[in-house]
Amino acid sequence: MMKNSISGKTRVCGIIGDPIEHTMSPAIHNAAFTKMGLDYVYVAFRVKAEELGEAIEGMRALNMRGLSVTIPHKVAALKFLDKLDPLAEKIGAVNTIVNDDGVLTGYNTDATGFLQAMLEREVEPKGRNIVILGAGGASRAVSFILADRGANLVILNRRLELDWAVELAHRISQTFSKKVEALELNRENLIKALEKADILVNATSVGMSPRSNETPVPFDLLRNQLIVYDIVYNPVKTKLLREAEAAGAETISGVDMLVWQGALAFEKWTGLKAPVELMKEEAFKHL
Ligand code: ATR
Repeated sequence: MMKNSISGKTRVCGIIGDPIEHTMSPAIHNAAFTKMGLDYVYVAFRVKAEELGEAIEGMRALNMRGLSVTIPHKVAALKFLDKLDPLAEKIGAVNTIVNDDGVLTGYNTDATGFLQAMLEREVEPKGRNIVILGAGGASRAVSFILADRGANLVILNRRLELDWAVELAHRISQTFSKKVEALELNRENLIKALEKADILVNATSVGMSPRSNETPVPFDLLRNQLIVYDIVYNPVKTKLLREAEAAGAETISGVDMLVWQGALAFEKWTGLKAPVELMKEEAFKHL
């Protein structure tokens, strides 16, 4: 393993968000850079919403190689970029920026990382019936990539009155010429949707620390033929995943998505295959 030391040639990457002080990304990325002997460094920047444009222009001016983009900037960042990956454009959100000699391109590795964590487990979403809980930012990325991959989707959301879920389902239906259902998240609809489901994805924040005693799906509705994927990564094993395991279901943790979104960003910045296992170990150290 080579030591990372900052030099005049060091390439700079980072993460912008607000708040940002609890991010694990610097630990994960710097561990990966060190492991691969790369002269790169990754730092966190708290960027206020009203200064997002200046921050992204600053990336160009300082010739930074890449940025991760997190809450609340994933949608607003789009308008400051020169190019968008087609999937990021469809989703309408980016979490990764690559700077190629002043040309800034946006990607959504939340979406591709979410998928990669499934494929790594040999779970292929194509043609499967998938129930997605939630219709917020995270659900958007997840729903678009699953539809793009050819899955059949039902989206359940607590609030339907604001038409978020309906709007999301409509956008996906139009984009992929595929019918997507949107229903209110309640027991009756859960029973109905889960009857035909192969995979259940929790894309809500329910179960996230400090409210880790909550779960979006009652235990009695879980069963062993289901694959349960929770995008919440703190705690690593949410109540939903613990109960799914107890019901005999296969589970995928949000940590895998977190690590893969970082790994795919790493690959875009460096052009090298990311040390995914090491990045996972590093993430676990901080959870
Ligand atoms: P994120 O970027 O993490 O997706 P978000 O855009 O605020 O964050 O979306 C949060 C999602 O979790 C929404 O689908 C939200 O449902 P509402 O649209 O009804 O607010 C869902 N969510 C949050 N708390 C919830 C709860 N206690 N029960 C059910 N759904 C909840």
